Amino acid sequence: MIGELQQLEKDALAELATATLEEQLLAVRAKYLGRKGLLTGLLRNIAGLTGEEKALFGKRCNEVKEYLTSKIEDALKLQLGRKKEDILLKGKIDVTLPGRFVPCGRIHPVIQVRREICAIFASFGFSVVEGPEVELDYYNFEALNIPKDHPARDMQDTFYIEENVVLRTHTSPVQIRIMEKVQPPVRILSPGRVYRPDSDISHTPMFHQMEGLLVDRGVSFADLKGILTSFLKKVFGDKTTLRFRPSFFPFTEPSAEVDIRCVMCSGRGCRVCGQSGWLEILGSGMVDPAVFQNVGYDPEEYTGFAFGLGLERIAMLKYGISDIRLFFENDIRFLRQF
Ligand code: FA5
Ligand code: MG
Repeated sequence: MIGELQQLEKDALAELATATLEEQLLAVRAKYLGRKGLLTGLLRNIAGLTGEEKALFGKRCNEVKEYLTSKIEDALKLQLGRKKEDILLKGKIDVTLPGRFVPCGRIHPVIQVRREICAIFASFGFSVVEGPEVELDYYNFEALNIPKDHPARDMQDTFYIEENVVLRTHTSPVQIRIMEKVQPPVRILSPGRVYRPDSDISHTPMFHQMEGLLVDRGVSFADLKGILTSFLKKVFGDKTTLRFRPSFFPFTEPSAEVDIRCVMCSGRGCRVCGQSGWLEILGSGMVDPAVFQNVGYDPEEYTGFAFGLGLERIAMLKYGISDIRLFFENDIRFLRQF
């Protein structure tokens, strides 16, 4: 029987030597080593042997099995390598072919300005937070010291969703939401969309604002002026002319609006600035003690300032765009310039 085993090994090796394709190799494996294969067949005869012969024959069978298995594995690996090489050779790439044009979008100018402003204020230690666009009347108005039927509501025409739910008219409600959650010191910046039924060359029904709020002990109007001035000089350059103009907001006292010299006419007066030579870009002021009381801050202990700026206004001034509506018409020729 040992003789038969040796013959089997020889035959298997001979067949293996001529097999090159994967199917052929697998067939050899099945024929000799499979469950119904020749080696299994030989092993079945083991019953007729004596104890000593049994052990010897069993051992030899295992050796042959292991040897053939490893030979077949090697051949399969070799064959796989050849197959891969084949694929690579057949699929040669012509590197001289011209590339395919992939149209590439641009970052919208309003978003560019938003990112730039966030980066400047991040360097002043402000962090960015966001709030909902569909807002409760309480946050948009009441907590900001604008009770129902107060004439100040007319300053901002409003889209109502329900009696007590509005599309936010400014980003100032985020101030309240933040102060309700955290104790001072607070330094936040909150960019986002706001809505007002307005439409002309410098107003659109949806536009972007950015709210800033800083609260701590001993904050003064000088801090407000210092931070806003250095911010605006960073955006528009050191030579920029700006003015702080006394103004009114129910949630700040005192309040100031900041104007910048009209870039379209350099202050001579034009359609864009309504002949005034100035363009308003932000509202600001010291947070009104009544607002602090609404969020449970002690106005004796803390002071702070807030501001809200129009992102489209800033983009218009920065890039010399004369009509705000261009931002939202999605004319590719306009957007490509940024
Ligand atoms: C406000 O909205 C106040 N919440 C700003 C504020 C915040 C004051 C914190 C004090 C403290 P105002 O309505 O002026 O203020 O709007 C602020 C800026 O948004 C304006 O300076 C202007 O740049 C821009 N803006 C206002 N209405 C429009 C509009 N319809 N289209 C485009 N930009 C607008
Ligand atoms: Mg205003």
